[in-house]
Amino acid sequence: MKTIISPSILGGSFSNMEKTISELDMSKVEYIHFDVMDGDFVPNLTFGPQFISDLRLKTNKIFDVHLMIHRVDKFLDDYIKAGSNIITFHYEIDENINHIIDRIKKENIKAGIAIKPNTSWEKIKKYLHLVDQVIIMTVEPGFGGQSFLTDQVEKIKSISHYIKKNNLKVDIEIDGGVNYDTGKLSIDAGANILVAGSFLFKQSNLIDASNKLIDFFN
Ligand code: DX5
Ligand code: ZN
Repeated sequence: MKTIISPSILGGSFSNMEKTISELDMSKVEYIHFDVMDGDFVPNLTFGPQFISDLRLKTNKIFDVHLMIHRVDKFLDDYIKAGSNIITFHYEIDENINHIIDRIKKENIKAGIAIKPNTSWEKIKKYLHLVDQVIIMTVEPGFGGQSFLTDQVEKIKSISHYIKKNNLKVDIEIDGGVNYDTGKLSIDAGANILVAGSFLFKQSNLIDASNKLIDFFN
C-alpha cells in the first residue's frame, strides 16, 4: 500500500509560513497537516481558521486539519469554510461524535477521529465504519518535537487488524515523533499516513527532506 506523508507545519516557523507552504507545494507531498490547538484541550495554542483560509490561497495540496480543541461543533463551520479537505477531531472531547462526523461528511470533506496515547482503540471501534481516517497519537498531543511512544505500536497493529478483518476503508495516520525508524515501525504495524513535523523541518532543505521521506516509504 502507498504511504502518504503529511508534513506538520507546526515544525516550521510561523514567520515563514508562506515560504513553507510554497516549498511543500513544490515537493511531492500530497497532504499538509495543520495542528489546531485551543490552549484548553491541549496545553498549547496555535492558530485558527483564518490562518488556514489564508494559506488555502497558496496551494491546492490536501489540507489535513487536526483539531485538538473542545467545542468542535461550535467551530466546525469555520474550519469547513477555511478549505479543509480532511477534518480530524478527538474522541476525548465531550460532544456528540456521530453528529460531528455527519456534519463533516455532509460537506464532502473526509472525517477523521483521533485518539490520545492513553485512549484504547476499542473506544472508537463503533465509529470506524463512519470515518475516513483515524489518527493514532504517538506523542501526547500539544507540542511538536517529542519522542515517539513505542508502546503505541501494538495499538496500531490491533486497529489495523480490525480494519482489514472487517473490510473497512479507513486510513491509519500516525502523528508524533515520526522519523525513518519510527515511521517504519508504524508502517510495518499497518499505518499508511505519517505526519512528520520536526524531523522534516530540522533538515536544511524542506523539499528534499519531504521527497526523500516519501521515496523511502514508497
Ligand atoms: C502534536 C501534533 C503533531 C506534531 C508532530 O500535538 O499533533 O502533528 O506537531 O510533530 P513532530 O513530528 O515534531 O512530533
Ligand atoms: Zn497533528
